[in-house]
Amino acid sequence: MVIDEQGTVIASATEEHESFASPQIGWAEQNPEDWWRACGISVQKALANGQIRPEQIACVGLSGQMHGAVLLDAADRVVRPALIWCDVRTERQCRMLTEKIGADRLIQLTCNPALPNFTLTKLLWVRDLEPENWKRVRSVLLPKDYVRFRLTGERASDVADASGTLLLNVVKRKWSSEMLAATEIDERVLPKLCESPDVCGQVSAEGSAATTLKPGTPVVAGAGDQAAGATGMGIVVPGEVSATIGTSGVVFAATDRPEVDPKGRLHTFCHAIPGRWHVMGVTQAAGLSLRWLRDTFHDDGHPPSYDELTAEAASVAPGSDGLLWTPYLMGERTPHLDPNARAALLGLTASHKRGHIVRAVLEGVAFSLRDAFTIFQEMDVPVRRVRLGGGGTRSALWRQIQADIYDQEVEIVEAEEGAAYGAAILAGVGAGCWPSVDAACESVVRVRERVAPRPDVVRKMNDRYAAYRRVYPATRQIFIS
Ligand code: XUL
Repeated sequence: MVIDEQGTVIASATEEHESFASPQIGWAEQNPEDWWRACGISVQKALANGQIRPEQIACVGLSGQMHGAVLLDAADRVVRPALIWCDVRTERQCRMLTEKIGADRLIQLTCNPALPNFTLTKLLWVRDLEPENWKRVRSVLLPKDYVRFRLTGERASDVADASGTLLLNVVKRKWSSEMLAATEIDERVLPKLCESPDVCGQVSAEGSAATTLKPGTPVVAGAGDQAAGATGMGIVVPGEVSATIGTSGVVFAATDRPEVDPKGRLHTFCHAIPGRWHVMGVTQAAGLSLRWLRDTFHDDGHPPSYDELTAEAASVAPGSDGLLWTPYLMGERTPHLDPNARAALLGLTASHKRGHIVRAVLEGVAFSLRDAFTIFQEMDVPVRRVRLGGGGTRSALWRQIQADIYDQEVEIVEAEEGAAYGAAILAGVGAGCWPSVDAACESVVRVRERVAPRPDVVRKMNDRYAAYRRVYPATRQIFIS
């Protein structure tokens, strides 16, 4: 995505990369070299689409999926496919880490508990189960930082993305020497750390050959998808909250100090803004629930479109005539912290049609995000404004369902691709177009639409939410093997 000094999107492009491989239940892997191939092509396409000359690009920002472990050998070759954010194979490593360090001490050191999503647990898995691969590892990078490495030759990351490794002292915004010592990981394998709007490298000759960007173009640290996405939606000061439905779903609140949930149900990470943090609740399978439904149940090899599915759901009354969906297709983070949680569709009768199931899925995902708002309330995290983001925002029905289930007016901003837009804002700050991220967001983030909750539906959805909250405790025992 290319933006100008007014924050207007001049051009953008995308390129598919390989979808993830899941060789065993709970595993999720991708090939980092393919991200770089897709990045080179999409940058070239964006420049061509906008008829932009490389010398017109003042600065580049990066964003990407968080938590993945990219492992490089002494020759900077990828050692094995990256274990990515939704891979949950590391339950045993999480248990051992928690026993070794202590649950409370882990939260003191990193602000977060040991969860299979976090990068450190993936490193420990490779060390335990693939010692031959581990022996070859000389550097560890997060997904977007591998792209940076190919673009600039720099091994660097930002403190927002690094927060999701479980190796960062989130309060002090530096690698945690205690965590490194306790897990016997050598700091030299980790990248240097920067704040998100800081320039930390330049496009190299190799980077230029792949992208056609000019060699020497500055590159800022950028941020993981959630912190960059929140920046792109103007979620920068306390009270501002976003609810994003992509593959995963995230409710994200900006804070001016590290607010920690003692039960570890929310993540406490650095924000992409120096001196700010955020808390966020994560649903593993948000947009993924709808995609799974679309791709799994059709009879002729032609899945219905999302528009067809949501049109059927729109003709069903709020509450889906008693159907409930808990979206735990990939285990769950907030609030259960249970990689073995399983999804459930409850309350079926012979009169339910496909539209009921689709509506139950849309509502179930929003209930699951409401769990994060419930924990914000317990922790006194203020919620004064809620903005919606991600692909889920494209459906008018899902926007209304969210307003009704959160009982909040929700806003939709103009730039839809939040994370790419946020990365471009950070690049603009790095290039000196704006004096700060706050100033940039103030001047460029514009609200396109507001959706109000409907009081009669809110009452109904409050009742359904109370029922939804009873499903996980009631079904958990069934899935314990
Ligand atoms: C955040 C998270 C996701 C991934 C993939 O904790 O896991 O946002 O970064 O989108």
